[in-house]
Amino acid sequence: MNSTAQILADFRSQVTQLLQERDKEWEASRKLVEARQLTATLKRLIEEAHRVDLPVIIREASLLDLGAGDLSFATELVELCVAHLQQRQRELILHSLDRLQPGSKLGGPLHPERERLNGLRSRTGLSFQFYGNQDMFDLGNLDQAGKLAPRYTIATCWAPATPTFAYEPTRLSDQIITQELHRTKGTFRQTHFSGEPVLEVQHGDRALLFPPWKFEIRGPLALLDLLARRGLLCVLGAVDTQVFWEILAQLFDDVRYRPDNQPFTSDNLPTIFGEIFERLSRLALGDTLNLSDCGPLRRQIPRILPLHPTQDPSYRFRSVLIRRGAVFPGIPASSTARRFSDMVEESPPWMLILVPD
Ligand SMILES: C[S@@+](CC[C@H](N)C(=O)[O-])C[C@H]1O[C@@H](n2cnc3c(N)ncnc32)[C@H](O)[C@@H]1O
Repeated sequence: MNSTAQILADFRSQVTQLLQERDKEWEASRKLVEARQLTATLKRLIEEAHRVDLPVIIREASLLDLGAGDLSFATELVELCVAHLQQRQRELILHSLDRLQPGSKLGGPLHPERERLNGLRSRTGLSFQFYGNQDMFDLGNLDQAGKLAPRYTIATCWAPATPTFAYEPTRLSDQIITQELHRTKGTFRQTHFSGEPVLEVQHGDRALLFPPWKFEIRGPLALLDLLARRGLLCVLGAVDTQVFWEILAQLFDDVRYRPDNQPFTSDNLPTIFGEIFERLSRLALGDTLNLSDCGPLRRQIPRILPLHPTQDPSYRFRSVLIRRGAVFPGIPASSTARRFSDMVEESPPWMLILVPD
């Protein structure tokens, strides 16, 4: 179902439910739209619409930033856009969230500084909220409290977490994923440090500490489903190579790009993706490619997150653009994106711009 049809279907089912639950009130409100009352009712409605909180999608430009880290992307976005929007008497609505527990000793530079948070919270022309200790796949409480919009103009995720999105569980078994984690990261275990639960990873002779959920694997299908539900436009920025190919495998119609139980490696990617691998590898920094030029896009991407009663079990992206690089002139970027230029041994990351149907 496309986004407009989805919004209408949700609206209809809400109206039907209210009609059944509150028949007296329904009868009274029906009178408000009778011919002789309609003009007065519309006038009151317009006055009310200016006064009350409407869903942000109806009111303003809005953006949801998932896994927002130190809020550097949010800050750059605000610097670039807010004054511009203000000139048109419009406000930017910006909601950012991250799973890191505020105040935790884990996560280091990914925690937003207090000054930055206060600056965003007090900025005129901006309606900003940051939700820390918030798993992007567990938004029920925020939704019930009316703190998130059902859908934003743009949903974005910068430098999607790895290994969280680097392995797709619908094509790789738990056993294979665990083997890969051990092979690439070393041994790891859940333990405690300074009273906090932590994941300890033995990397050579060093023990590295991460939040306990660091190795929870969700996969690209969950991320794409979330972004497509929440954004009219979805942007994935500074995507590292491993996450990129795992996402890409889910976007083409042809199943040969998502072989069962075969983790992607630099050795097998050219064989599995063939001509697509060649074309994408040839993209120079800053270049853009329309993914449908490489092959038919998948028409039925399975939904992984719990289904809403009116929701189809699959969806599609009408358009997918790929850009090579992490930073583009005139476009805000996150601090991780800006760090890529110093990481000489990393290959340049990717940006995906997706329009859900
Ligand atoms: C590589 S960092 C990128 C941070 C920031 N977007 C940037 O580009 O600088 C990944 C971020 O995703 C967050 N994260 C990982 N899993 C998450 C989840 N399930 N829900 C919300 N945030 C998550 C991490 O805490 C971390 O801040």
